[in-house]
Amino acid sequence: MHREPWIHFCGPKDLVARQAILDSLSSHGVVTRSLDVNAPSDEGIVCFSSIDDALYELVRELSHNRDKRVLAVPVAGAQLDSAQAWRLMLAGASDVFRWSSASEMAERVKARFDRWRAVDELLQSPTVQKNLIGGSPAWRSALRQIVEVARFTDAAVLLMGESGTGKELIGRLVHELDPKVSGSELVIVDCTTIAPELSGSEFFGHERGAFTGAVGARDGAFADAHGGTLFLDEVGELPLALQAQLLRVVQEGTYKRVGSNAWQRSQFRLVSATNRNLLQSIENGHFRHDLYHRIGGWIFRVPPLHERREDIVPLARHFLATFLPGLAEADFDLPVREYLLNRAYPGNVRDLRQLIARISSRHVGPGPITIGDLPDDEHPANAPEKESWRVPEFERSIAQALSLGIGLKEISQAAAETATRIAMQEENGNLRNAARRLGVTDRALQMRRAARRQHNGGT
Ligand SMILES: Nc1ncnc2c1ncn2[C@@H]1O[C@H](COP(=O)(O)OP(=O)(O)OP(=O)(O)O)[C@@H](O)[C@H]1O
Ligand SMILES: [Mg+2]
Repeated sequence: MHREPWIHFCGPKDLVARQAILDSLSSHGVVTRSLDVNAPSDEGIVCFSSIDDALYELVRELSHNRDKRVLAVPVAGAQLDSAQAWRLMLAGASDVFRWSSASEMAERVKARFDRWRAVDELLQSPTVQKNLIGGSPAWRSALRQIVEVARFTDAAVLLMGESGTGKELIGRLVHELDPKVSGSELVIVDCTTIAPELSGSEFFGHERGAFTGAVGARDGAFADAHGGTLFLDEVGELPLALQAQLLRVVQEGTYKRVGSNAWQRSQFRLVSATNRNLLQSIENGHFRHDLYHRIGGWIFRVPPLHERREDIVPLARHFLATFLPGLAEADFDLPVREYLLNRAYPGNVRDLRQLIARISSRHVGPGPITIGDLPDDEHPANAPEKESWRVPEFERSIAQALSLGIGLKEISQAAAETATRIAMQEENGNLRNAARRLGVTDRALQMRRAARRQHNGGT
């Protein structure tokens, strides 16, 4: 399934030096092929002997906005300062490093490829593919990092994201991918339902008679999660008094039952989720700074659906298949697809799921889902205005480009390329449909893509 990584030399002209690098890589088991921009694989190495704008541009092209992994390595005594290394990272490189011998370089390259391969295999596994739908760059990039941290570390994971973006689903995935805990319990505590008057008994458990109504001793979530995962859902809602009490157990794994003086131990993987901006909560005095750092060993932002519109149709198809399993081949008519793509989803994936549930319950007979299946309140009078695509992120992105000194030509070109890539993806590579969506002729789109390829190849 995996293609060999590519390698590309921007200088040196010295073929012997090139061959030495290739030999060293292959003796470490890294088989590379030369770069073919028309069929690039997901990872590769750019070896450069000098640093100029063309190099940054090449890395930007090859990394596809960080979707593909590019290692940028200086060769033949190329000088590389920190600012240049960061600029390469900004252009999309996954790593940049200097080396002292070809064999050391090959070892380091191999270690990185091995890790990436392991992460990609997890991403392709049925656990991920069947449950977490989405192939957009934003989703893939988030998932890739989460999967790596889940499998290869035991750090506490904090998931931040709008309501309905899939935080709970991802929390469950972290539990399943962690080899140390996956066979054990996943204990979910909804922090919105914690009653302060029970002094955290939901977490710590309590002794008989610890408070009114405590007729018998009980274990709490920490005891239940021992050896497994504790998922603190809506952690931003945790009362301040309890936040202080959680510090010790999150840090050291020791706690006392309510009404007892004996220390208990519990070891668990901690995953927390919130749709609040916790940094703001800290500023407002609603969340403890120290707890934030303890629950956020790794902090991930789960992107809202409007930042990954490419995922809308695949998600819709996935939900349709769950609601109408008999209609295995059922799809959406073009106007429905367009409507789904342009609609706003304030409740993110949950909104989309509910919409598809409503559509499914209306649909009759064979054939695709048609606009007649859309509920009345979904008719275009209620659809978003055409101008609504110029969201704040759009403005921010342009402002950032300008601040980096990127000119109008490059910005327009990037916008056109992004639109082309999205249209091609959403139309499953069908050039005619993509051209129609873009409002250009098939021929114009074909030429644009050919020119692009040539440009890439010529760099
Ligand atoms: N990538 C996805 N693939 C398939 N289903 C998804 C995906 N993301 C979310 N869902 C579904 O959308 C719904 C909402 O997801 P989830 O409960 O994980 O969101 P959440 O971020 O925890 O929301 P909230 O902040 O409101 O608790 C669930 O039914 C979930 O199964
Ligand atoms: Mg949730």
